Amino acid sequence: MILIDGKAVSEKIQEQIREEVARRKAEGRRIPHLAAVLVGNDGASETYVGSKVRTCERIGFHSTLIRLPETISEAELLAQVHSLNENPDIDGYIVQLPLPKHINAEKITYAISPEKDVDGFHPANVGKLALGLPTFIPATPFGIVQLLAHYGIATEGKHCVVVGRSNIVGMPMGLLMSRNAYPGNCTVTITHSRTPNLAEETRRADILIAALGRPEFIKADMVKEGAVVIDVGITRVPDASKKSGYSIKGDVAFDEVAPKCSYITPVPGGVGPMTIASLLKNTLLACGEE
Ligand code: GUN
Repeated sequence: MILIDGKAVSEKIQEQIREEVARRKAEGRRIPHLAAVLVGNDGASETYVGSKVRTCERIGFHSTLIRLPETISEAELLAQVHSLNENPDIDGYIVQLPLPKHINAEKITYAISPEKDVDGFHPANVGKLALGLPTFIPATPFGIVQLLAHYGIATEGKHCVVVGRSNIVGMPMGLLMSRNAYPGNCTVTITHSRTPNLAEETRRADILIAALGRPEFIKADMVKEGAVVIDVGITRVPDASKKSGYSIKGDVAFDEVAPKCSYITPVPGGVGPMTIASLLKNTLLACGEE
């Protein structure tokens, strides 16, 4: 069993981007600028956005954090989005999800200029992904394909089972694994909450991608011997032994599943750190060759 070290791969990619930024600086070229919009005070969102902004600073990108109160109206948030679309200093930006219930997240996502949509959530960019055209690939699926490529994991002709059909992970993951490229060329099964006999499907997976958001849901008897298991889960569960009061659990019962795998990602330290590297790559792409 090989443990996939997402932290190390992410650091390597970040180092390459840091070098590219230094080259750009030396040549007097444009330095990428990422903005992040954070609405309200959700603990997990604060952690993710804080980490994105700090990483930008570390590798030499410009970054701007826009904090807005939980009570902001949809119209006010839309005005902020329009202002970011028109701001020539900003190359790309994200609006951290989830948004408060009184705001229609689709309306906000669809208002983001596709050229600045480094999350790859806008319908124009999802459409390009579906057609196999160059675009911003959503950070988590992008991170996963980079991990598969880094470890040289064979994908052609394999059966990939994705558990979860979210717009952020499951759906784009299925598109990427079935495309005519490497990593890809898999036969893909997307499963979800209405899939009968889920274990029967997951047991057929050469590559199993768990993205359903239920801690330790995937047990050893749901996994084929020798499978590649990618764990996208990052659920906070109460843990009195931790200073923070919680620990982070993946969607896979790691201790019982790992011995059956050829490769597996741990949580934390697997897929999570890769999402930031992907976002930085997308921001560099949005900045272009200027
Ligand atoms: N919430 C959870 N994951 C993401 C992400 O990749 N982008 C944004 N904007 N919000 C998220």
